[in-house]
Amino acid sequence: MNEDGRTRLNQRAEWTALAKHREELGEVRLRELFAADPGRGTGCTLRVGDLYVDYSKHLVTDETLRLLRELASATDVFSLRDAMFRGEKINTTEDRAVLHTALRAPRDAVIEVDGENVVPKVHAVLDKMTDFAERVRSGQWQGHTGKRIRNVVNIGIGGSDLGPAMAYEALRAFTDRELTVRFVSNVDGADLHEAIRDLDPAETLFVIASKTFTTIETVTNATSARTWLLNALGDDKAVAKHFVALSTNAEKVAAFGIDTANMFEFWDWVGGRYSYDSAIGMSLMIAIGPDRFREMLDGFHLVDEHFRTAPAESNVPLLMGMLGIWYGNFLGAQSHAVLPYSHYLSRFTAYLQQLDMESNGKYVDRDGHEVDWQTGPVVWGTPGTNGQHAYYQLIHQGTKLIPADFIGFARPVAELSDELKAQHDLLMANFFAQTQALAFGKTPDEVRAEGVPEELVPHKTFKGDHPTTTILARELTPSVLGQLVALYEHKVFVQGAVWNIDSFDQWGVELGKVLAKRVEPALTDGAEVTGLDASTRALVAAYRELRGR
Ligand code: F6P
Repeated sequence: MNEDGRTRLNQRAEWTALAKHREELGEVRLRELFAADPGRGTGCTLRVGDLYVDYSKHLVTDETLRLLRELASATDVFSLRDAMFRGEKINTTEDRAVLHTALRAPRDAVIEVDGENVVPKVHAVLDKMTDFAERVRSGQWQGHTGKRIRNVVNIGIGGSDLGPAMAYEALRAFTDRELTVRFVSNVDGADLHEAIRDLDPAETLFVIASKTFTTIETVTNATSARTWLLNALGDDKAVAKHFVALSTNAEKVAAFGIDTANMFEFWDWVGGRYSYDSAIGMSLMIAIGPDRFREMLDGFHLVDEHFRTAPAESNVPLLMGMLGIWYGNFLGAQSHAVLPYSHYLSRFTAYLQQLDMESNGKYVDRDGHEVDWQTGPVVWGTPGTNGQHAYYQLIHQGTKLIPADFIGFARPVAELSDELKAQHDLLMANFFAQTQALAFGKTPDEVRAEGVPEELVPHKTFKGDHPTTTILARELTPSVLGQLVALYEHKVFVQGAVWNIDSFDQWGVELGKVLAKRVEPALTDGAEVTGLDASTRALVAAYRELRGR
């Protein structure tokens, strides 16, 4: 019990019931669960929108799921969810509402923050984005010298990069192939260099994406981009035609020299990692066009409505979140793999890393107490089948429990040649084979039956019982991408609510930023910097020597 009378999570009856259940279950064997219930393969499935979700290959019984739902009800999941959708300030450490769901709400919705309906503002910005995107796509928006814009370079980092960059890759098949769209995030000058070295400045639009417009990496890269542009075009007025800003901070945008008429606004109730469906999606909208962008928003909204209204038994984000609680808090898993079987989703897991780990990587709960339960997992993964030839060995035969999500599509994208389309079945054969092998493994007797010499039997045995969720859709469309992202947003929400942490702040990234500012003068000018520990002092000296300073 906390001093405020609130029962600690791990002292709740629902938590201890799960711990007891876990003891009683002992080792869960998927072969046995499937043998006991021939309907499990179809029974343990759910549908949301275009997504078919199979959770049959999880180390859970009906009783486990029931107890997990009870834990969700006993904690704040549903009341906090409703408060989020209503626009209440559930991000308590920053005293902010959490309303990424308003970004995809229909025009006639009413969602109030401090008594003001924010939906008209959302649609006004979407309309302004639509107008601008169309002008760029049609060639009506011209560069300073009158040339058509052919290149769009998004400069941003974290949530101002990962979302649009991921979605651009995911929806490449829907993009205008005449446009070159690139994303620069790293303050390593090599990133900007590689992005612009072959571009004509007169045809290049820089989209500066920064919620705060104070992020050092972004401001530094944007300044270098402006220098590159002005060196080539030789007129300060060129900035107006070649720079737009996506931000909540008009003052800083103006101070940088970007006309605020060319600023696309969003608001403090949109978290950075929840922002790519806000103005932060501008470069994506230019690439795929406003209609496709709106289809994506509709996909998000569909899953928002599902999460808000579906009963607990069929609520997919709730299920995914609670399964993560089961593995992380009761079975000792430390990480979670997300393995998309789509080349277009090559940045999806990187995007989810910020979404999940920046949201739920916290050791202090909402009441300011240190938690004594595990919180957010390490999220990792790359597209199949590449991972199969790299790290899957460890998932199959290593010593760690790694729950994984497999995401696949029934159809390849339309523009592939017939020959390349034919490869899709091979890709998906791997997709299905992997989850089967992970779940059911191969027994020593099965290995012996293949005539394997006895000394190799242990090496060729697969114990199985590696849990996976399979998410299958017909094809990767803008709407399906929106559905997938919203699914994970709400999964992360569910887990944060159960763990009683604030999933919407990110104080943990501040210290490094402050220290970097302090160290920089020591590197550049050799300045005496106080407060450096002995190791860092020695490293800085070694760096200066190697750098020839
Ligand atoms: O990494 C910290 C962070 O604040 C993220 O949450 C955010 O997405 C990123 O930096 C970029 O911030 P901004 O959009 O303000 O430049």
